[in-house]
Amino acid sequence: MADVERWKREAAEAAVELVRPGMIIGLGHGSTARYALHKLAMLIRSGKLRDVRGVPCSKKVEEEAQALGIPLTTLEECPELDLTIDGADEIDPALNVIKGGGGAMLREKIVAQATRYQVIVAHEGKLSPRLGTQAAVPVEVLPFGWRTHLPFLESLGAKVSLRLDQQGVPVRTDQGNYILDCYFGPIPQPGELAQALDARAGILGHGLFVGLVDEVFVAGPRGLRRLRA
Ligand code: A5P
Repeated sequence: MADVERWKREAAEAAVELVRPGMIIGLGHGSTARYALHKLAMLIRSGKLRDVRGVPCSKKVEEEAQALGIPLTTLEECPELDLTIDGADEIDPALNVIKGGGGAMLREKIVAQATRYQVIVAHEGKLSPRLGTQAAVPVEVLPFGWRTHLPFLESLGAKVSLRLDQQGVPVRTDQGNYILDCYFGPIPQPGELAQALDARAGILGHGLFVGLVDEVFVAGPRGLRRLRA
């Protein structure tokens, strides 16, 4: 296994140790959170962990969790979650993050907002002095009038590109919307940018998670570290 995969797995599996019997768990989307999903399934199968239920952050995670035999519930049944384990594309020193490389940021944020303890799992390459240095901010927009957001996003300092699949067709989120990947470069005030995006009709979500993360499990060549907000 390549180093980065080993670090992702190490961080994700360590975070699963926070899960206690009876908990309702948010199940994050992405290749790092997937290691947590598999570890959780293994603990449930072996009988070491009982009476936990998961709320998936995407249709893909829902399918995989079902195949792995993880008992699932919904935000309708359980609007408050105990713990969510999710990945991130970039993490700043205040534990603000960019998410949505996998396109699931809207559901991920709804789940994060409903969660008492939000944990991010990642390899060390995701740590950054300032959000936007490495990752684009994905912005989910209603297909109706999507082009009208381009000048608005550019006025905020972004270079914008519509996310396309390998056939050149616009990627659709689980809600059927488009994603505009916004390259800002280092973002001086992520909170202000998040508010500006939140205020615009037709923008349904975005990957800036400001003040939502309680703890980051990060692994790299120097081992595992736990960073708390
Ligand atoms: C999914 O929409 C994302 O928010 C992922 O959690 C994020 O892109 C991290 O993914 P990896 O763990 O695959 O890097």
